Amino acid sequence: MQTQSLASQLLKKTLSDYIDESFLFVDPITNADLSDHCFSNSDTWLFKEMSCNGNQAYLWPTKPNKHYKNVVLFLPKSKEKAIWLVEQLKSFLPTKTIIYFVGENKGGIKSSAKLFANHLDKITKVASGKHCVLLRGELNDTQAQPYHFVESNYDVKGKTVKVASLPGVFSHKELDHGTQLLLENLPANISGKVLDFACGCGVIGSFIKKYHPACEIDLCDIDSLAVESSKQTLKINELVGSVVISDGLMKISSNYQWIFSNPPFHTGIKIDYHISERFIKDCKSVLTSNGRLYIVANRFLKYAQILQDHFNKVDVVAEDNKFKVYCAYNR
Ligand SMILES: C[S@@+](CC[C@H](N)C(=O)[O-])C[C@H]1O[C@@H](n2cnc3c(N)ncnc32)[C@H](O)[C@@H]1O
Repeated sequence: MQTQSLASQLLKKTLSDYIDESFLFVDPITNADLSDHCFSNSDTWLFKEMSCNGNQAYLWPTKPNKHYKNVVLFLPKSKEKAIWLVEQLKSFLPTKTIIYFVGENKGGIKSSAKLFANHLDKITKVASGKHCVLLRGELNDTQAQPYHFVESNYDVKGKTVKVASLPGVFSHKELDHGTQLLLENLPANISGKVLDFACGCGVIGSFIKKYHPACEIDLCDIDSLAVESSKQTLKINELVGSVVISDGLMKISSNYQWIFSNPPFHTGIKIDYHISERFIKDCKSVLTSNGRLYIVANRFLKYAQILQDHFNKVDVVAEDNKFKVYCAYNR
């Protein structure tokens, strides 16, 4: 059970007497963030797979279809995504709509007034507490850019793959070093059904499908921007694969000979090992017998122990001064 983020606790303390159906909450951090009854009459615009107790929930790319008077934005980790979210709001809300934004001091909320200066007028601080700040402004009439995917070309020891991504998606504009190490050390004999878990912009799954075309590739991620980026990555590489939005392996019903992942260890800005622990444990029931799980992880993370707790045989197949690539065998 996830707990309410600090940002959501400050919102409850400050706004609970005012929240009604004129409020839209955007991109909450945890499942519990809007669980208090004070949020129950408001609507939510979600950007990841999560349950939601509010009145009506929309999952991007579906847009809300009402003119809300008040919007509350949970400041995301990526500044580029924060601006992108405000631009998305501008595409369907009138000028002067009130936009609240809330976040933790260590997530950069204090400098967010500058971040939104092009899109919001009359920015003022409403409250602070719980190591967070709540600010508000009004949408101005400057034109927002329609969104587009950023395309990059990544090279892995002379083998290339194109990648399309949206702001805030992992490996956006630059291939992660750990992902690169995993791709450099893929086994030669990949075939059958393959899952790219926590696919981000789809670089691992697309690379595998491109260089092992006989395999059948599925990709999944909790984040709807990641899912749409992965679909676009497959498309620009002219590859066929299935991409699903899923929290962990919850929406995964097939069995796989291979699972590859650079798994997550953050919820919002907080380090959170539970997602990967749950994923590694659940992999056992999704892998075929003799199936293999390949993951890359920062050396400082305690994955060796977690893998050994659930698999009989675990090898380190590659490592450098920052990352290790593990292979776990399902017997
Ligand atoms: C380290 S990134 C790896 C992305 C991509 N595979 C790469 O290597 O560039 C981890 C990914 O995990 C996703 N994620 C976080 N929590 C998740 C969860 N509960 N279930 C599925 N995916 C999750 C994030 O959205 C992010 O895209």
